[in-house]
Amino acid sequence: MDLEQQLSKMREDWDARARENAKHYVQTAQTDWSDEEFYASGEQTVSEEILTDMTNICQGKDPKQMRVLEIGCGAGRVTRALANLFGEAYAVDVSGEMIAQAQKGLRKHPNAHVFQNNGKDLSILPDLGYDFAFSTIVFQHIPSKEVIETYVKEVSRLLRPGALFKFQVQGYTGCDTNPDDTWVGASYSDEEAKEMAERCGFEPRYRHGAGEQYFWLWFFKR
Ligand SMILES: C[S@@+](CC[C@H](N)C(=O)[O-])C[C@H]1O[C@@H](n2cnc3c(N)ncnc32)[C@H](O)[C@@H]1O
Repeated sequence: MDLEQQLSKMREDWDARARENAKHYVQTAQTDWSDEEFYASGEQTVSEEILTDMTNICQGKDPKQMRVLEIGCGAGRVTRALANLFGEAYAVDVSGEMIAQAQKGLRKHPNAHVFQNNGKDLSILPDLGYDFAFSTIVFQHIPSKEVIETYVKEVSRLLRPGALFKFQVQGYTGCDTNPDDTWVGASYSDEEAKEMAERCGFEPRYRHGAGEQYFWLWFFKR
């Protein structure tokens, strides 16, 4: 399976999941989510991963003056909470069905901008200079390290020097990935994560959860 076939498979599989039950596939903690519960869970993610970490994320800036980007926004669960906190939120997702649902959920958030992308880069986003980038429960589903690293390089291209890309990858290295399977993503050891940061122009300043599903990386743009 070549890269283009793999990207088509990601788009088709995530479109099918979005048609079947988008909120569940985005956040599998529940099968049936009301809109209120679903978006509250996004606020909770932001409380846990962002509000606890404002020194690294904002670096003295007023959040309302910051432009942030998100990779793999799904139905806009976290995007909405990002738009409530920051000045402007830009987000991409490979699935047009997910993006359609995100657009509905973000109707009242004119500072949130969501785009269907090609599943591997950020060329769809305006090159405006971004102050922070975020991604959670997305790379753990991408079976290709080439795609993940392309995203990390793309974030490096778009972030302002010194800014943070905080993201989660699969850290449990015991699962085999299959290029055909768009649910089980490629995993990273601590050493592999550090090497990727260096190749992509980042300082991998903090890492938490190596060996576990939720392996969080704090990459600061050099
Ligand atoms: C489990 S959902 C998480 C969505 C969102 N991050 C959240 O926490 O609510 C994973 C999302 O990643 C998207 N995705 C999967 N592969 C992708 C790729 N190669 N590029 C962009 N988005 C991708 C899927 O379409 C899906 O919306």
